[in-house]
Amino acid sequence: MKKGNKWEDHYSRRAKQEKWLARSVYKLQEIDKRYRLVRRGDRVLDLGCYPGSWSQYLLKAAGKRGQVVGLDLLEPIHVRAANFRFIKGDIHSIDIRWLVEEIGPRDSVLSDLAPKTTGARATDAIRSLELAEKAMAIAIALLRHQGHFLCKVFEGEEVKGFREALSHYFGDTRAVRPAAVRKGSKEIYMLGLRFEGG
Ligand SMILES: C[S@@+](CC[C@H](N)C(=O)[O-])C[C@H]1O[C@@H](n2cnc3c(N)ncnc32)[C@H](O)[C@@H]1O
Repeated sequence: MKKGNKWEDHYSRRAKQEKWLARSVYKLQEIDKRYRLVRRGDRVLDLGCYPGSWSQYLLKAAGKRGQVVGLDLLEPIHVRAANFRFIKGDIHSIDIRWLVEEIGPRDSVLSDLAPKTTGARATDAIRSLELAEKAMAIAIALLRHQGHFLCKVFEGEEVKGFREALSHYFGDTRAVRPAAVRKGSKEIYMLGLRFEGG
């Protein structure tokens, strides 16, 4: 391990070797292997896509006939593919009707959105939940029938209510903590499987 870089670990070294843009890819990979969220030809929306490892993974999983749209405040300049489109924007101010018209229905909507952490657990949990709620509203507007939704959220009291809300729209819900989540992190991933609307 490089001296002085407390964040470097097995997953970040492996990500460099395997040419992924971030170690976060292993979280998605683990969840996708277990739940088969993405298939060949799928149209996927990747919320909070910068620096781009999830989009890289999704482009591989969906293949050439698939289509990946990424949205973030920051442009993932190293993700390049004919079937990748980047939308620069703030999830809090994006017009969902515009997004529906612009990119059409999605087979899955994935969100790795995370707020800049302040260190104050309660504040961070609330900000993360606000992002998750916006991601859920977008998923509900864009998912096709039986599509899937994956969403990062920081653990806290309110997560129960979020899962409860998900259960009204999806055939099944799960809370998953992939092995690549750092020790001590409050991150978990909520899954809504088989969208019942659309
Ligand atoms: C953990 S990173 C995502 C990593 C990404 N999944 C990857 O594999 O490369 C979280 C992202 O959420 C984005 N984000 C945070 N708040 C946002 C907002 N209000 N609107 C859009 N993106 C936001 C950040 O810019 C950041 O790039």
